[in-house]
Amino acid sequence: MADNKVIRETPFFLKEINEQPKALANTLAQYLGPNLQLKMNRPPLDDLNLKKITKAYFTACGTSYHAALTARYMVEELARIPAIVEPASECGRHYQLIDENTLAVAISQSGRSRETLTSLQLAASKGASTLAVVNECPSPLTLAAQGSLTTLAGRVNSLSSTKAFTCQSLILGLLGLRLAQIRGADREQWRQAFDKLSRLPELVRHALSVEEKIENVASKLINYSHCFILARGRMLPMACEGALKLKEVARIHAEGSFIGEFGHGPLALVSSQTPIIVIAFADEIEPTDLALAFEFKARNVPVFLITENGPNQENALAALADEVLTVPAAPFRLRPIVTVIPLQFLAYHLGRLKGLDADRPGGLISPETYSDLKAQSLNSPTGSNLQS
Ligand code: F6R
Repeated sequence: MADNKVIRETPFFLKEINEQPKALANTLAQYLGPNLQLKMNRPPLDDLNLKKITKAYFTACGTSYHAALTARYMVEELARIPAIVEPASECGRHYQLIDENTLAVAISQSGRSRETLTSLQLAASKGASTLAVVNECPSPLTLAAQGSLTTLAGRVNSLSSTKAFTCQSLILGLLGLRLAQIRGADREQWRQAFDKLSRLPELVRHALSVEEKIENVASKLINYSHCFILARGRMLPMACEGALKLKEVARIHAEGSFIGEFGHGPLALVSSQTPIIVIAFADEIEPTDLALAFEFKARNVPVFLITENGPNQENALAALADEVLTVPAAPFRLRPIVTVIPLQFLAYHLGRLKGLDADRPGGLISPETYSDLKAQSLNSPTGSNLQS
């Protein structure tokens, strides 16, 4: 812990959160051709014969896996292609479903996570077209894939991923749009969806102003050891990503959960000692969410609401929350990406108040180190695992 107290003035983690608008704008600019043409080259995506694709398979680890979960919504809704999402460490479970009509997309900041590489290779062995979404290029993943889409997040120094994550989500949205275009989407609808996606860097820039309020929320959460983050549908990956960041950077046990599932067991754990962050937009709230919030109040649970400002401000849950954090109103497909910003800041400020170094998250190791450790453990005569 002593080492953790030696903190640079501006940790990379915080710097990288603030770099997101620029990283997103650079990434977007890279893929924009004249007349809103999407330049998804290296090699031209169409070389992967995307017309024949009948399903998508997304695979990744950690934060990149949460981007993959977001991609499912983008691709299924925009291109109407069913998508399988698998943590790369579970690779092989969907083996039977992968075939030559599958587009396998492996997502990674470093391009070096061994499990992600293995998943991609496995999909390739079944005849799938393979695509890598990476920040570091060239990398083992780009070399193994038939095509690659690069995020332009710039150099990532923090071990805990932020700007690469939002750029991955943007690229996966662009991929959904490209697939929709190839499959003959209505031109006007396509254009509208594209216009909305182009607004992302600006929306994220506005979302950064939430930081001021977050410092206050962090001071209220500092003495708790457990926390739940609840959300529904496309926001669930962000609840999971926020929980991952709280674990790594603030060393708080946090869980992301579907709000609709919460009454089916997890509620038993809830008390005045388990603060709850609810991500809920006014137009998506169900009567059961309100009933749950009343139950939280009855148990003196500290409740924090993340919602959007603007026309949807009339949020029925707001009156039941101890604190309301708002992000800029965004087109519904962009809401997840904008909403992750307060959660990134929360992890940072909680960790800072605890004297932790955000750039050395507890227990997180670089993909390379992980691969080395794994190789050592496999070669060891005792077959000891990574924990030993
Ligand atoms: C969490 C985090 C990790 C990485 C994971 C995959 O903040 O950074 O969970 O996302 O180790 O790494 P990449 O994306 O490099 O394959």
